[in-house]
Amino acid sequence: MFVHITVLGLGYVGAVAAAALARDGHHVLGVDVDPGKVDRFRQGEVPFHEPGLDDLVRDGVSSGRLRFALASEVESGQLGDLVLVAVGTPSRPTGAADLSQVEAAMAWVVERAGSSAGVAVAGGPGAPAVSTRPIVVMKSTVPPGTGRRLSRRFLEPVGLAYVSNPEFLREGSAVHDWFHPDRIVIGSESAEAAARVRALYEDYGAPVLVTDVTTAEMVKYGANAFLATKISFINELANMCDRVGADVEEVARGIGLDPRIGSQFLRAGLGYGGSCFPKDVAALDHLARVYDYPFELLRAVIAVNARQRLLPLYALREVFGSLAGVPVAVLGLAFKPNTDDVREAPALDLIPLLVEEGADVRAADPQAVERARAVLPADVKLTTSALEALDGARAVVLATEWDPFVHLDWEEAARRMEAPRYVFDGRNALDPARMEALGFRYRGVGRGR
Ligand code: UGA
Repeated sequence: MFVHITVLGLGYVGAVAAAALARDGHHVLGVDVDPGKVDRFRQGEVPFHEPGLDDLVRDGVSSGRLRFALASEVESGQLGDLVLVAVGTPSRPTGAADLSQVEAAMAWVVERAGSSAGVAVAGGPGAPAVSTRPIVVMKSTVPPGTGRRLSRRFLEPVGLAYVSNPEFLREGSAVHDWFHPDRIVIGSESAEAAARVRALYEDYGAPVLVTDVTTAEMVKYGANAFLATKISFINELANMCDRVGADVEEVARGIGLDPRIGSQFLRAGLGYGGSCFPKDVAALDHLARVYDYPFELLRAVIAVNARQRLLPLYALREVFGSLAGVPVAVLGLAFKPNTDDVREAPALDLIPLLVEEGADVRAADPQAVERARAVLPADVKLTTSALEALDGARAVVLATEWDPFVHLDWEEAARRMEAPRYVFDGRNALDPARMEALGFRYRGVGRGR
């Protein structure tokens, strides 16, 4: 059954949800507080890089099933059957999740929800009838316990139902992930509301887990914290491999073949970044403190990750002694390939430290130059071309394993670089033997060289 849906918050989760649900046949209103963003979406453009989303948005807009509005333009009774909340939950300095956007979203919904039989929204010919009692569906990642609290404070007094429906999309493959979920998690105190949300995903063929609200919230934190733990664990093993002279890539293969361990998320390197893992792990750690529970394992995961991104700095110091005047190229500014997102990207922590030590840093990224420019020291030269960044450099740090970097013309790169042509492969993405044959001095993470 097709329904009317409002999606509040047009970041990559909200925008993908809105466009994908419109593709499925629902009538979707995408809402944001940022006029620039809403304007771009209205024109069928996506204001950030997310593969496949442009087409989905363009199709949705031209079908008439996907519309966009500024939050202030939406009137009472226009919310539809479901309101998906996908606003940000950034970190506060303490590590706690900042829930101010989520709370503002709740107030916004309550203000517009209407209280009885009311105005239907014109959704175009053939559009389904609109409910005036929307179900609030939380897609934003909120700490366990939040939904119950929000529901009690904002929704119960006006009789609206709350569903926690955490999202597991990865940036860079969010469109694919939306249509091919591993599982759907639905937490609600209302069986009817849970069923309404479940119906959205009926055709996706994924296992559905229906729980209470707090449990659903913990599934999301548990998943991200476990994946972050896997990464920090393989990074610790990599650091040990460097010390004993083993190859972590083979070790990862060897342990990953055990299905109880699994081969994914065992790539050693500069650690995890992005808008999710660092923030969610910090928020779970903070929540543990609030409950006076020392979640020691999680603290170690955070500490390992913070150190890991500085490995190139330690290695460069070892090679050059002083970094003063040393031309160093950094390849990759986005926190991972196929995104222009630089939030918590290892390169953005590393580069200012290299600059502080006097290195002459130039950096390249296919998509993230603009976003990085806003947060990097002004004297760092930024380019989309790896070869340009490498020109005259004595060392290069591969910080993000973008395809064009991994498959660079490294022979040409060797010609353009100066001795010692030191390569710190922060993602173990290059072939050490080949790099050495080309005259580079190669160093990976836990590869024994
Ligand atoms: C992550 C989760 O994978 C999604 O399931 C989740 O929905 C999302 O967070 C979220 O909470 O919203 P994302 O941040 O897009 O998605 O990125 P991932 O592809 O999971 O990578 C996270 C980080 O881990 C990257 O910095 C990546 O370089 C790093 N990583 C990943 C490793 O260092 N090693 C690995 O083996 C895998």
